[in-house]
Amino acid sequence: MRIRRRVSTCLVGAWLLGACASPASTPDCNSPASADSRGCAVSPSLTDSGPALPRWPYLQSVHQTSAIVAFRTESDCLPTVRYGEGNTLTSSVSAGLSGTHHAVTLTGLSAGHTYGYVVDACGSTTGLRSFQTATGTSSLQTHFTAMGDFGTGGAMQKKVLEVMAMPQWRSELLLTLGDNAYPSGTEAELQAHLFTPMAPLLREVPMFATPGNHEYVTAQAQPYLDNMYLPTNNPQGSERYYSFDWGPVHFLALDSNCAVGLASPDRCTLAAQKAWAEADLIASSRLWKVAFFHHPSWSSGVHGSQLTMRRQFGPLFEKYGVDLVLTGHDHDYERSKPMHGDAEASYGQRGIPYLVVGSGGATLRPFSSPQPAWTEVRDAAAYGFLDVLVDGSTLTARFITSNNTVRDTLILKKPVVAVVPGVQEAALDAGTESRPGPMDGRVAPELQGPVPPADTPESVADPEEPLPPR
Ligand SMILES: [Fe+2]
Repeated sequence: MRIRRRVSTCLVGAWLLGACASPASTPDCNSPASADSRGCAVSPSLTDSGPALPRWPYLQSVHQTSAIVAFRTESDCLPTVRYGEGNTLTSSVSAGLSGTHHAVTLTGLSAGHTYGYVVDACGSTTGLRSFQTATGTSSLQTHFTAMGDFGTGGAMQKKVLEVMAMPQWRSELLLTLGDNAYPSGTEAELQAHLFTPMAPLLREVPMFATPGNHEYVTAQAQPYLDNMYLPTNNPQGSERYYSFDWGPVHFLALDSNCAVGLASPDRCTLAAQKAWAEADLIASSRLWKVAFFHHPSWSSGVHGSQLTMRRQFGPLFEKYGVDLVLTGHDHDYERSKPMHGDAEASYGQRGIPYLVVGSGGATLRPFSSPQPAWTEVRDAAAYGFLDVLVDGSTLTARFITSNNTVRDTLILKKPVVAVVPGVQEAALDAGTESRPGPMDGRVAPELQGPVPPADTPESVADPEEPLPPR
């Protein structure tokens, strides 16, 4: 349920904070002593109070002017979310209906601003947390992270999350690349392996998820869909695949299960998703385009390359200027050379780097074959996540290990982006229309590598998949 009602609230939120009080004389709010008792606005506490919520708030579908705060309560009640710029919570919105599953939409936000919020629910008040709304086209910078195959609730997932929480890696948004909750994507597993271990992060960093094959073990990923509040900007109105913009980047989230035979046709089809994806990419004029999904188009890991994803969507990525493709499924890290079709891009041909970041926590699997010629870097010994910084015409992606080391760095550059005050958007549009050259700084042709191994037969869940210690 999504409630989009906004209530202004000098009567509720701000009053509780003292911001709407009318003191008889101007108080000395610079004095720390008993400031709130004299009508001064005070910052909400950072500490949670009252009974612990069974699920702490998590941010969903954060856009330029709206955001969803989802959470669960132990018993039925009618919660309120107070929010505002910085630490001043001048607005509040009611959940609208009494219940235990809540998803409250905050509206009236401004692009690229930082908002604080607290949840008042069933006698609990969460500590103040902050998030940033999506930036608009005038912004040239974006910082996001991505990881897949993490939902174990195990020690390595927690170690990866500890590093991701470090200030230098704290991003504006997180992309998940599937297998969010092993082994079967049930309601209980989503809680134990996703929402509980990731609660501190998801309270401040919006998660844009894609489903893996393990989510499809249970009811065609219905528990996953029930717990996510993702964009639904496709004709099917489905959260399984969607797109959104954040600053200079257009993100395309695909559900590869719909393409590899794991989804039943009444849930999603390759044809419908492909038709929507093409229209979506055509419509986007953002400078950068990043696609992400679970089954890898290029992989030399245990599962190997998923040829349906490569051959159905690769031509669209090439035709409409996708710059970077992020996937998971194989429990390792791998970055291809710039690829085109079924081979490395030849000289003068636009190539796309395909990354597997299936290293978020599930047990790593060693490579069983020599490194292919098309692989730039691969590593099946390091857990970690991808950190991506977009700054104008430069995109820098780093694979950060659970030991907080930079294992791999990829730098992509657009040909020209003229940064002239007042005309930045025009410059960006022009840059988008010109086709970039070969990526990753390579200008010399390289010998084409062999076509990588074909798909291994796909199953919904890998019965042999070992889980790390809980
Ligand atoms: Fe998988």
